[in-house]
Amino acid sequence: MSAEFLAPRLRRVRPSPTAVISDQVRALSAAGTDVINLGEGELDFDTPAHIKQAGIDAIVQGDTKYTAVAGTTALKQAIMAKFKRENRISYRPDEVIAGSGAKQLIFNALLATVSSGDQVIIPAPYWVSYPDMVALSEGEPRIVHCLESDGWKLQPEVLAAAITPKTRWVILNSPNNPTGAVYSVAELHALAAVLLEHPQVLVMADDIYEQICFVPGIFATLAEVEPRLKERILTVNGVSKGYSMTGWRLGYAGGPAWLISAMQILQSQSTSNPSSISQAATVAALEQGNEFIAEWIDILTHRRALIMNCVNAIDGLSAEAPPGAFYVFANCQGMSGKTTPSGDILKTDEDFAAYLLQSGHVATLQGSAFGAPGYLRIAYAIDDNRLQEACERITRACRALR
Ligand SMILES: Cc1ncc(COP(=O)(O)O)c(C=O)c1O
Repeated sequence: MSAEFLAPRLRRVRPSPTAVISDQVRALSAAGTDVINLGEGELDFDTPAHIKQAGIDAIVQGDTKYTAVAGTTALKQAIMAKFKRENRISYRPDEVIAGSGAKQLIFNALLATVSSGDQVIIPAPYWVSYPDMVALSEGEPRIVHCLESDGWKLQPEVLAAAITPKTRWVILNSPNNPTGAVYSVAELHALAAVLLEHPQVLVMADDIYEQICFVPGIFATLAEVEPRLKERILTVNGVSKGYSMTGWRLGYAGGPAWLISAMQILQSQSTSNPSSISQAATVAALEQGNEFIAEWIDILTHRRALIMNCVNAIDGLSAEAPPGAFYVFANCQGMSGKTTPSGDILKTDEDFAAYLLQSGHVATLQGSAFGAPGYLRIAYAIDDNRLQEACERITRACRALR
């Protein structure tokens, strides 16, 4: 048996670039190299103790069986209360669903609604998984390029020009991975005005980084800003980023009942309910407040400053301080044409990222993985001392270029 037995749909999909870099890091580490990983999209903070305890309690109390596919009643109530309290959006129980990570919910929503020939507008730079999920659903990713000079945000006239009769979805991700861009209320209003003109278009609001904002009160989500669009919006969120719970695999979404029901059917025939233990922990996360986030934001603000100072002091690199998420998306076009100590000429962002890994032993991700060649994503949510060391390594490696 060999790869020729694979289904044709798999040929449309690339392996996740983040997984590729993690494999390279593991291989180098296994060979004894001390690699600092600035490629991973997760916080280094521990899951808060009260949330872990709720998971432990669930195990001890025997909450270890199948639950309702879309989540327990307690979790649905906690999700509805969160949307009401923090986003001023009212959902009924049949309008919310929990799944094994936001990733699964986004995938199920696309798989349930996208057919061959349908287009999905994906503003670039984008989270690496969107185009491949669309391709797996047999749709056509319609990549729309956003500019650094526009703060990496989709402009209304660009959105209007990209919509065709075949457009099924527009994906909005704020705060954005990889740029950290956050859409203001006014910017969302301007996009909403375009979307109101096109009743066949659904909107995926991927709010997974909601809690990671450096400007208080800056976050807004489309269903709150334009309630007339609510019936066409899937608001996706989860506990991975804001509660440092990536391994618990728990995401949730709110949207029109017909869509939630379709996602639930897909889930019922694939993964079923998310882990009962993670559901119990998420109830605690959503109900018991997140006072810890202020301290996390302070720590991240310090780390962001470290990496910003490093990047902007290097000839050929530059970046603006991003208002959200925990990435710096640095312009590295100035590195193109430089020669490494071993005589190789750097041509692309991929060459530069590979050079930083092989020579500086710092893992980052090239912007082309996010649909934006000429940039580098630096994930800075790691221990301060290691981050400082990474900055020194990047600086040394860049100084060695001619
Ligand atoms: C923009 C974006 N959306 C969704 C996800 C998936 O999150 P989860 O861990 O809940 O599946 C990620 C994870 O990196 C992400 O960056």
